[in-house]
Amino acid sequence: MQDKIDQYTAEIKAFTSAKADELEAFRIKYLGTKGLIKDLFEQFKTVGTEEKRTFGKVLNEFKQFAESKYNELKDSIDSSTATEDTEFDMTLPGEGVSVGSRHPLSLIRNEIIDIFKRLGFVVAEGPEIEDDWHNFSALNFPEEHPARDMQDTFFIKKNSGTDDIALRTHTSSVQVRMMENGKPPFRAIMPGRVYRNEAISARAHCFFHQVEGLYVDENVSFSDLKQTLYSFVQELYGEGTKVRFRPSYFPFTEPSAEMDVSCTICKGAGCNMCKHSGWVEILGCGMVDPNVLENCGIDSKKYTGFAFGMGIERITNLKYVIRDLRLFSENDVRFLEQFKTEII
Ligand code: PHE
Repeated sequence: MQDKIDQYTAEIKAFTSAKADELEAFRIKYLGTKGLIKDLFEQFKTVGTEEKRTFGKVLNEFKQFAESKYNELKDSIDSSTATEDTEFDMTLPGEGVSVGSRHPLSLIRNEIIDIFKRLGFVVAEGPEIEDDWHNFSALNFPEEHPARDMQDTFFIKKNSGTDDIALRTHTSSVQVRMMENGKPPFRAIMPGRVYRNEAISARAHCFFHQVEGLYVDENVSFSDLKQTLYSFVQELYGEGTKVRFRPSYFPFTEPSAEMDVSCTICKGAGCNMCKHSGWVEILGCGMVDPNVLENCGIDSKKYTGFAFGMGIERITNLKYVIRDLRLFSENDVRFLEQFKTEII
């Protein structure tokens, strides 16, 4: 018995551990209900009276020694884990929250709106489902006129022509609503989604986004149109961007033009984006046709106006060099994430 006590004493003295599970194993081995000390006490019951006297004291001392060793190690483990729980560095950076990003089309739309707001334009909106009058007839598209084929329309109800219901093909319909419901002067832009029945490819989509603009007042001239759009382009693409106007045709403007800017990618030197011409077309524009003013109840002898319309996708492509329109509506996070820095 004395031999065992000596052996266990040596083992216990040598035992050191900073781990809670090892200490628990130690407790079970020596102090547990089926542990070695318990065994010694069982044996103790069988020894003679003489030995009981000697070993009683030794055994009790040994048990106390084992218990104090256990308590000592337990205290040191408890205090070290307590340190981990309660002491942390308040100056460490946080985990960080993943911030979403704005859609590139929203970024460019907001930029366009900001520029025109500084030029004194307000923002107007209207419905995406339109009647024939607001999308076509009021805008001087005669019934059965081939000009209606310029814009492949998604019809919701195809009736006799003038009472058709369709998804709007342009936000010019908002210009009609504005002129019908108010009095000149008007100075507004109309951002919004429009729909055209086109096969989806890298270069065409069945819906896209526009910002159109309208300015109607007394004595508005083509030079006002040119100056407004020139200022817009300088703000959007930077000072020194060149513009040129080419004659064109729209039923609702006369005269009509398309506006090109010097290629924003190669600065006019020639690249794939501008098909090596140095110029890229960004919008259609013109003086509001007097018929349109009259259709909306505005005296065309007193008032004149200009209008313009651009596709936000096109402007965005030129800014970020995105060559496939489908990317804008696929919601691929790998694409959308690339515009993160812009929201700050
Ligand atoms: N509404 C035309 C379009 O969608 C754009 C435009 C607007 C052209 C105003 C001239 C004047 O293509």
